[in-house]
Amino acid sequence: MGFLTGKTAIVTGIASDRSIAYGIANALAEQGASLILTYQGDKLRDRVAKFGEKLGAEVVLPLDVARDEDIEALFDSVAQHWSRIDILVHAIGFAPREALTGGYLDSISREASSITHDISAYSFAALAKAARPMLSETASLITMTYLGSERAMPGYNIMGPAKASLESNMRFMAADLGPSGVRVNAISAGPIKTLAASGIQGFRSLLARAAETAPLKRNVTQTEIGNTAAFLGSDLASGITGEVIYVDAGYNIMGATSN
Ligand SMILES: NC(=O)c1ccc[n+]([C@@H]2O[C@H](COP(=O)([O-])OP(=O)(O)OC[C@H]3O[C@@H](n4cnc5c(N)ncnc54)[C@H](O)[C@@H]3O)[C@@H](O)[C@H]2O)c1
Repeated sequence: MGFLTGKTAIVTGIASDRSIAYGIANALAEQGASLILTYQGDKLRDRVAKFGEKLGAEVVLPLDVARDEDIEALFDSVAQHWSRIDILVHAIGFAPREALTGGYLDSISREASSITHDISAYSFAALAKAARPMLSETASLITMTYLGSERAMPGYNIMGPAKASLESNMRFMAADLGPSGVRVNAISAGPIKTLAASGIQGFRSLLARAAETAPLKRNVTQTEIGNTAAFLGSDLASGITGEVIYVDAGYNIMGATSN
């Protein structure tokens, strides 16, 4: 029996077994949670279904957060089998590739800005809004962010402002849902090589620099992010809401390195 036994979790954002969402789903399952996984588009259906089997997920459902009808249909399907949701994991981010290449102003456009904010930030609030009638009294909502929300990072470009918006969304949601007992937090992960990350120009050197600079002198793993999500999703974290929790081997505290 794990500390999430009896809890039901929706985990979005699995695209591969390197996805942060995969690490989270695995950690939640290890602690006894029942899993509902979502996949973006038909192309990912079979792959995510296979991961679902491996992780013992109850069901695997489609969700493209760009589509209001998908968000509605997801919670309609969930409501057919479950009366409540205890954990909702938002591990979704997207920016058009050209917006992640070159300098900030060279790469930015109205369209890229709008899509990036829509998919990467607004969608967390949209999912919470649709999930609200089903959220249990101790539900925990978790999103994934990055230090680029606060500091200018080469190549991260429009994702930086979108992550700032996501974190602000998270705080407003925490204030809004807090009176009903629901907690909302963000995990700020250090860089991890995933499909989304490989779209960022210069990601490899970012990874190397992060390991060099961080107090723990290494990068973090999906398992470490997953374990933190399991903690935040559980009643062990019952006093924590509206926070950005750094799981980055300590990188964010550093001002300069000695080597
Ligand atoms: N990898 C890192 O270094 C890192 C660091 C900090 C935060 N993050 C964040 O973690 C989250 C997960 O990313 P990842 O690194 O695991 O990469 P990933 O490519 O494995 O996952 C990104 C996921 O977003 C989903 N997605 C994109 N657009 C979507 C849409 N319209 N509807 C539904 N799903 C959509 C993709 O299907 C994919 O599953 C993102 O929010 C990312 O910004 C990643």
